[in-house]
Amino acid sequence: MLAFEAVRVTTDDGAELLHGVDAAVCPGTVTVLAGPSGAGKSTLLRLGNRLEVPSHGVVRFHGRDVADLDPLELRRRVGMVFQKPVVFAGTVRENLHVADAHADDLSLGRVLERVGLGVALLDRQADDLSGGEAQRMCIARALLTRPEVLLMDEPTSSLDPANRRAVEALARELAAEGLGICWVSHDLDQVRRLTDRVVVLVEGRVADAHEAARYLGAGDARGADDAGTARDARGGDDAGAAGDAGGRAGERPA
Ligand SMILES: Nc1ncnc2c1ncn2[C@@H]1O[C@H](COP(=O)(O)OP(=O)(O)O)[C@@H](O)[C@H]1O
Ligand SMILES: [Mg+2]
Repeated sequence: MLAFEAVRVTTDDGAELLHGVDAAVCPGTVTVLAGPSGAGKSTLLRLGNRLEVPSHGVVRFHGRDVADLDPLELRRRVGMVFQKPVVFAGTVRENLHVADAHADDLSLGRVLERVGLGVALLDRQADDLSGGEAQRMCIARALLTRPEVLLMDEPTSSLDPANRRAVEALARELAAEGLGICWVSHDLDQVRRLTDRVVVLVEGRVADAHEAARYLGAGDARGADDAGTARDARGGDDAGAAGDAGGRAGERPA
């Protein structure tokens, strides 16, 4: 659905942050972008909704070069949630209206409930929200444009463990409803909990299977294919979903 094809990013002073990265985000799947700090994870994510433009290569959404799409329309369909919640002055209602100015309280209440917040929060000053509430409000705001893909850049790194788990569970639910999620994390336990597919970036490149396995920790149940993409071998309820995701992982958008 969203595909990065041999993307390179070179800064004005000639530093190459990404050296030809291939990756894809598929519907109904949580793809985790893992790797050490400075590896280029945020840079790659930002290419996904054109906050950043590749110097070489192409980013495709449903097969079309995102450079040919209206950026605002693209950003409605490919939403972004940042590490630090982006909160505007005013009430929660006003913050949500940034995404959909015409949404009534009923639909705003519905999306707040979707992210585990109550409709009573609509009149609260957004500045007064806790970190976890603010991040959920940001996810609610992103959901209001009915995105097909959600790009999440370390969305739980400033949250306490309970909120972290709640946001992880929400991401899994959204994926189960068909959203394609790309979640950046360098928390290996979180990678294990979340992922259908993991792409490991190291120094601006997709790590090969060996390097990815070493980064993710040897000795777990995870297998890695030769594209550097490891697939979760979770058991139980999720096994079917993970298997499906593995099947789709090899597909390329038309
Ligand atoms: N606009 C920029 N100009 C120069 N260097 C940058 C720019 N943005 C990021 N970098 C550098 O590129 C590398 C990758 O950054 P980033 O994508 O933020 O990595 P990650 O999210 O994996 O920590 C880092 O070394 C960072 O300092
Ligand atoms: Mg980053």
